[in-house]
Amino acid sequence: MTMLNQKIEAALNKQLNAELYSSYLYLSMSAYFQSINLPGFANWMRVQAQEELVHAMKFYDFINERGGHVMLQQVEGPPKEWSSPLDAFENAYKHEQKVTGLINDLVNLAAGEGDHATSIFLQWFVTEQVEEEASADEVVQKLKLMGDASGGLFMLDREMGQRVFTPPAASAEG
Ligand code: FEO
Repeated sequence: MTMLNQKIEAALNKQLNAELYSSYLYLSMSAYFQSINLPGFANWMRVQAQEELVHAMKFYDFINERGGHVMLQQVEGPPKEWSSPLDAFENAYKHEQKVTGLINDLVNLAAGEGDHATSIFLQWFVTEQVEEEASADEVVQKLKLMGDASGGLFMLDREMGQRVFTPPAASAEG
C-alpha cells in the first residue's frame, strides 16, 4: 500500500477537524436541550456527539495506518443557542447535508488521485451520511407534525431519551 500523498493527507486532516466540530456542535445542542428541560433530546444529542468522535477517530486511525501525519487544528466554537427544538434539528439536518458534501468531495479527490485504499475507507462514510441525514430529518418531520402540541413534545422527549451510544466493536477498528 502506498503512503498518503500530501493532498489527501491534508484533506483527511481537514475532515478529521470537521468531525470534531460536528461533535462539538451536537454537544452544544445537547447543552441547549438540557437548558430548556428536554433531557431526552439532550441525551439524543449527547449520543450523536459521541458518534461524531467515533467518526473523527476513524480518520485519525486511517491517517496513521497509511503512514500519514495527524495534524490537529483548532476546532471552531459552535453556536450555543437555537430558537426552538425545530430550529436546532433543522440546523443539524443542514449540517449533515454539508458534511455529506465534504465526504463526496473527498471521494472525488481520492478517485482523482487514484488512491483506492482511501476510496474504500470512505465508502463507510458515504453510507453513514445517508443514515445521518435521515435520522436528523426524521426528527425535523416529527417536530413539524406536532406543531405546538406540547404533549407531543413530551412524548418525543421520552422517545429520544431511549437512544444509547454503542461503542464500535474492537474488531472493526484498525
Ligand atoms: Fe460524522 Fe454526522 O457525520
